[in-house]
Amino acid sequence: MIWISESEEDTLSFGKRIGENVRPGDILLLYGDLGSGKTVLARGIACGMGVSDRITSPTFTLMNPYVGKYPVYHFDLYRLIRPEELYDLDYEEYFYGDGIAIVEWPERMGGLLPEEYMKIGLSQMDSATRRKITLEPFGSRFEELEEVLRPYEGIGH
Ligand SMILES: Nc1ncnc2c1ncn2[C@@H]1O[C@H](COP(=O)(O)OP(=O)(O)OP(=O)(O)O)[C@@H](O)[C@H]1O
Ligand SMILES: [Mg+2]
Repeated sequence: MIWISESEEDTLSFGKRIGENVRPGDILLLYGDLGSGKTVLARGIACGMGVSDRITSPTFTLMNPYVGKYPVYHFDLYRLIRPEELYDLDYEEYFYGDGIAIVEWPERMGGLLPEEYMKIGLSQMDSATRRKITLEPFGSRFEELEEVLRPYEGIGH
């Protein structure tokens, strides 16, 4: 599905809807250029899960945990050089446990990409504040999540 965000607030509220509908073990991979809005969307998702801390993009850590309705593991893999470095982080515990994994720059995972996940793409459109957000499910659980979010398809607000 495709969702058009007209503002940062729109992206936050769409993220919130995602966060309200995730289940333990869900994996959300956020694709998009620098500044496309991945962290903003992650912040919205966390908000929808009841996380009270503000999600940020730390420079030197690859993963930050947050506590919400379920544990939230926010990965920013921009600085990951080799996928195998993920083993040093015990990433499997976070990906395949009872929390929610939200991953920026999942391209860096190479062959360690999970089999089932929601692929979320963000791209800037013709105006500085307009973003196209696409959801593509991999696996039946994520097809189900997409169906739940579909009523919101189209323009934001
Ligand atoms: N519709 C929109 N949705 C999200 N962010 C928007 C939107 N319009 C403008 N912005 C701005 O774009 C920027 C997005 O920054 P953000 O940190 O979320 O990007 P990012 O994709 O996480 O980048 P990086 O790859 O560097 O981590 C913010 O400054 C935000 O205010
Ligand atoms: Mg970011």
